[in-house]
Amino acid sequence: MKFLIIGDIVGRGARNILKTKLEGIIKENQIQFVIANGENASGGNGLSYKNAQELFSYGIDVITMGNHTWDQKEIYKYIDQEERIVRPSNYPSPCPGRGYTIIDKNNIKIAIYNLSGRVFLNSLDCPFKTFEKDYKNLKNLADIIILDFHGEATAEKKAMGWFVDGKVSLIFGTHTHVQTGDERILPNGTGYITDIGMTGPYNSVIGVDKDIVIERFLTQRPIRFEVAKGPIELNGIIVDINEENGKCENIQPYKQLYLQE
Ligand SMILES: [Fe+2]
Ligand SMILES: [Fe+2]
Repeated sequence: MKFLIIGDIVGRGARNILKTKLEGIIKENQIQFVIANGENASGGNGLSYKNAQELFSYGIDVITMGNHTWDQKEIYKYIDQEERIVRPSNYPSPCPGRGYTIIDKNNIKIAIYNLSGRVFLNSLDCPFKTFEKDYKNLKNLADIIILDFHGEATAEKKAMGWFVDGKVSLIFGTHTHVQTGDERILPNGTGYITDIGMTGPYNSVIGVDKDIVIERFLTQRPIRFEVAKGPIELNGIIVDINEENGKCENIQPYKQLYLQE
């Protein structure tokens, strides 16, 4: 089965590009399932109900989240009902929403699973121990397990890759908004990449207006971030997973630059 995984969607310009381009990308690459990280989709902060439904209507099957999950307060009202959104499973419980979801596609059960790192991020429950706990259920429920590990530190992400090798079909990193070039298949058949990058403004500092970020570094004062304008880059990966044994057969970067917003 062929998957397209789209990196953190940042703001309206990125949403508009997906509106006009995603259908074509899916057709052209014979994609059967689309996963996107949506933690920055609404103005860079969180995911509103309206924007979530919009993204689903463009062809995204499941949305994963991260440290910005709770930025749009309305998510508390709808996340329990929306089975196509997952937030990091290692938030201390009880916590609204779910850490994984299982979608049946052509009789294949696909688990989409979200964890957050905790190096230079919020001190959530241990992602490694949470994985061990969740995996006991997931291995019996799903044919294919795909993990979005939302993390800042490359070492934590690399370690998680080795930790889950042979247990999940694919682990991809999100959060840094910069794609790494280390995609590979680990020895036990798990696809791995440290970060898939973002889908957002190309002339920016990880999606934010560059002048505001520079000003913030210069003054060391809090200045409100705004999503940058202009061309949009789409970053993600295309992955082939064998439906019989759940192993990753191919993992390739997918990158596009759209000059019109
Ligand atoms: Fe992000
Ligand atoms: Fe993040």
